[in-house]
Amino acid sequence: MKNIIQHSFNINKADRNKMNDHLSFVIWFTGLSGSGKSTLANLVEKELFNQNIRTFALDGDNIRSGINKDLQFTPEEREENLRRVAEISKLFINSGNVVIASFISPLRKDREYVKKIIGEENFIEVFVNTSLQECERRDVKGLYDKARKGEIKNFTGIDAPYEAPEAPDFEVKTELEDLEKAVKRIVGQLQKKLEI
Ligand code: PPS
Repeated sequence: MKNIIQHSFNINKADRNKMNDHLSFVIWFTGLSGSGKSTLANLVEKELFNQNIRTFALDGDNIRSGINKDLQFTPEEREENLRRVAEISKLFINSGNVVIASFISPLRKDREYVKKIIGEENFIEVFVNTSLQECERRDVKGLYDKARKGEIKNFTGIDAPYEAPEAPDFEVKTELEDLEKAVKRIVGQLQKKLEI
């Protein structure tokens, strides 16, 4: 960036990680609206928090009610939404937190962009795999009904695409798997990753 010279501070991520006695990174939950991203993210955060891990949750609806309330759901605005979330995640990672991020993040190219901003080594992808049919059946927020009636445009799965991850670090098939077991599996496998 022209005329911008970044300042480097004395206390850095490594210092904070050392103080907290664990590493920091992002656990990124992707999946359709209503797939259970936030539910699963909540359970994973609770489990980590109970282990004295510093966590912070970022969620689509929350971020879009505040810092990103100027953004809608066109492909360009989703990209900008996710770019900002990646930058915010990076700040929290540098502050020593394990970030629990739940965003539809429907396009592979946008998830790749997020990974690039955050750094591959700091990005753990969880695919919350729930079929469109099941998400639509649940329709917790009544949004699928509105999208089918044409009252919402660019709705993921209806008139906007969702590209499933090809090689996620974790996949949870919510229609087949017990959620508590999935949480244990994820948190269990993260123990090594948390070690300094
Ligand atoms: S994205 O695609 O990653 O930028 O979306 P995200 O920031 O995660 O926001 C998803 C939540 O916004 C609500 N919502 C919509 N979702 C998809 N498509 C359209 N058009 C739309 N309009 C509103 C919806 O409540 C999503 O929340 P979740 O928790 O995913 O159901």
